[in-house]
Amino acid sequence: RRKQFEYLVSNLKDIPKENLNKEKNSVKRSPYHQRIHIESLFGMLGDPNGFSYFNGYYHLFHQWFPMKYSTNPNYFQQGWFHWKSRNLVDWIPVGEAMNNDTVFDKYGVYSGSAIPINNKLFLMYNGNSWTNTDTDDWHRVPSQLGAYMNENDNVAKLANPLIKGPISGYTGHFRDPKIFKKNGKYYSIIGAQTKAKTGTVLIYESQNLKLWNKVGEIKTNFEKNGYMWECSDYFELDNKGVVLFCPQGLKSKGNQFLNAFQACYAIGNKLDFRNLYFEGKKYEEIDSGFDFYAPQTMIAPDGRRILSAWMSIMNSNSPLIKYHYDGCLIFPRELSVQNDKLIQKPVSEITKLYTTDYKGKRTISKNQEIIAGLVNCRDIKFDISTKYNNAISIIDLFADRKNTNHLRLVLNRMKNRFIVQRGKAGLEFEDEFGNERSCKLKVENSVSIRIIQDISSAEIFINNGENVFTMRVFVPKDQYHIFVKNVNGEVNVKYQIHQLR
Ligand code: FRU
Repeated sequence: RRKQFEYLVSNLKDIPKENLNKEKNSVKRSPYHQRIHIESLFGMLGDPNGFSYFNGYYHLFHQWFPMKYSTNPNYFQQGWFHWKSRNLVDWIPVGEAMNNDTVFDKYGVYSGSAIPINNKLFLMYNGNSWTNTDTDDWHRVPSQLGAYMNENDNVAKLANPLIKGPISGYTGHFRDPKIFKKNGKYYSIIGAQTKAKTGTVLIYESQNLKLWNKVGEIKTNFEKNGYMWECSDYFELDNKGVVLFCPQGLKSKGNQFLNAFQACYAIGNKLDFRNLYFEGKKYEEIDSGFDFYAPQTMIAPDGRRILSAWMSIMNSNSPLIKYHYDGCLIFPRELSVQNDKLIQKPVSEITKLYTTDYKGKRTISKNQEIIAGLVNCRDIKFDISTKYNNAISIIDLFADRKNTNHLRLVLNRMKNRFIVQRGKAGLEFEDEFGNERSCKLKVENSVSIRIIQDISSAEIFINNGENVFTMRVFVPKDQYHIFVKNVNGEVNVKYQIHQLR
């Protein structure tokens, strides 16, 4: 392993220009570029990092492996790429913010978060190095590191770790610090693995951002914790405490936890920061779709709690890799809590992207009907109502003219389920995790289904964000039709389609 690391290039500027250009040209050939989502310019995009508001802009960074799909494996580089925006919808690529160029982060600038401090943005992130030069038994040395970004978007790393790992009682898996301020103190919630190889999170506190003290582990009553918790977050919303985390190593259970890795949430009373007792008893997946991981939240200047996440799963065999890029972020969502459930909605700024609108109302029975559209980049709202409680309504998106291929959504009132089938939706990938996802639904007379569709993704919001399904879909350009039909009785379908951008 040491040998492998010795030849690594950790700085983009050490990579010859023509090699970088090769990567960019290859990306240009992809027919699947998104229009309203942040996606990797080249190389691989990972977790959202440092999501914050500072100096008049929203800032959103992401894990970036620029040369991950290049032909030369010596170009190892893992850092943060930086985007900023005035309004959460028009994003400007700023460029590489950090890469693995210090002793503490030599083997990866991993995920982290940000908080504005006076006229700077403070970044707290995990860096890894490896130790033990005598034997082949190498150990990961994780540290929580700091950096400041100034108003010109220049990032300067701090020389010394904020928290030097590994820490006693835990393995080298100690990462993804999420910083926040509460009652005049700074806190950081950090994912960790115990020596017994179970997942947990630790809370640290600091008065001055320099000295950090461990308060302890959050205590929960969860039945299963997996082997490691990644990308945790804690915030208070609508008078509740909310913990987000990605427990690795959960087994699938019925229709739950079907993806390779899960992103979950738990809701309880606000966390007591003296004893760290969190009484939420169970956790659920944040998103019921195929591609959602590593969530991170921030507070907008108007107080909204906004969510970003990686629209992918780890090690996916994405068809984009052959173009030398992969990965995008979800469209930002506003969160709220209702009846101990996390509710998610696309941020209202999406209306800035509206161009042409179509509206209509139809009664739909057995025969499929086509609904107009142009390009797979739109905000689609359906309202489906009926007096038949055995009605099964079907919406096909990304469909070809004959509707043989499509992404299929099924609202099954007989079984009280909403189902998404991706098996016939273009290029196959991630098949080993199955082609269907579903959730239980209390089906009222009227059900609302909203879909944020981009060239190669769909984010489906049921009943105003009670359930969400997020996924990538790779279909040819001319598969932009929408079909609706119904089995058993008939349904009234109201729809409104806003083309975007
Ligand atoms: C989650 C994760 C984080 C880590 C980062 C490295 O996807 O594994 O735990 O910080 O990715 O890219």
